[in-house]
Amino acid sequence: MPDSVLVHSPATLSNLGCGFDVFGLALAAPYDTIRIRRTAELGVRIRHLDGYNLTTDPARNVAGVAVQALLREVAEPVGFEIEITKGIKPGSGVGSSAASAVGAVVGANALLGSRFTKMQLVDFAMAGEMVASGARHADNIAPAIFGGFTVVRALEPAIDILALPAPPLWVAVVHPQIEVKTSDSRKVLPPAVPLALAVRQWANVAGLVAGFLTADYGLIGRSMDDYIVEPARLPLIPGLVEARKRALAAGAIGGGISGSGPSIFMLNKTEAVAQAVGVAMGSVFAELGIEFNTYIGAVATEGAKVVSKA
Ligand code: HSE
Repeated sequence: MPDSVLVHSPATLSNLGCGFDVFGLALAAPYDTIRIRRTAELGVRIRHLDGYNLTTDPARNVAGVAVQALLREVAEPVGFEIEITKGIKPGSGVGSSAASAVGAVVGANALLGSRFTKMQLVDFAMAGEMVASGARHADNIAPAIFGGFTVVRALEPAIDILALPAPPLWVAVVHPQIEVKTSDSRKVLPPAVPLALAVRQWANVAGLVAGFLTADYGLIGRSMDDYIVEPARLPLIPGLVEARKRALAAGAIGGGISGSGPSIFMLNKTEAVAQAVGVAMGSVFAELGIEFNTYIGAVATEGAKVVSKA
């Protein structure tokens, strides 16, 4: 068994419009790079090899909390040293915390003879996500573990995740430099939903799944609309309406708020269209005088993976 592994853990989109806390999609880039070593010293130690100044306290760091959850299920005395290089900017709305939590548990599992199932790894990583957002949700974690398009069908009484194929897609994400904390953007959500809205929403949920399974880009595009969460979060995301308008004019299939924001994502058929859509969305924030970053990435069929062992 190796003493040390290097893991790449991908950025992910969650919600995908209509599927709040349910849908997720793995991206080929950006990704976090995590070196994890098995140590005789018990417990978890964390180092960050990037400039983001994230906590290294294992009780507060998402990767630390996730690996501690895993260690509670391990009988033999073992510890881990985790070195994290964030390729995914924290707070960018593309599953940064999920990627670190997933990469760490995937690495720890590889160092323990791969004794845990992917569903168990989702459970451990969710402990990390709980620290980051104050809510137990797996819509970024599931695609980071399984790759492709995922549906979190249930967390209770047992974790039930569907890993489904995704047609070739390119994602454009624009990340305006404004702070929207996941915990805050969950507080604005309505506690109850009128039945008529719920009907429209679950019709779109069914349409989006069917669109992914049949590679029907038109169906994917018209099924992404979110009648429940996006209207509540709209005031937190300046530029969203105009960015979507310009993105669709530039050829995007459709999109919306990336996770809890502030980023906006659009799905596209080709890399060239995704690049043009990124530019079109960026122009909105340039006009608003808000700094932004743009990411273009293909949808990944694989989730977090060990890329080398020593
Ligand atoms: N589904 C979550 C939300 C994703 O929209 O709040 C954020 O991590």
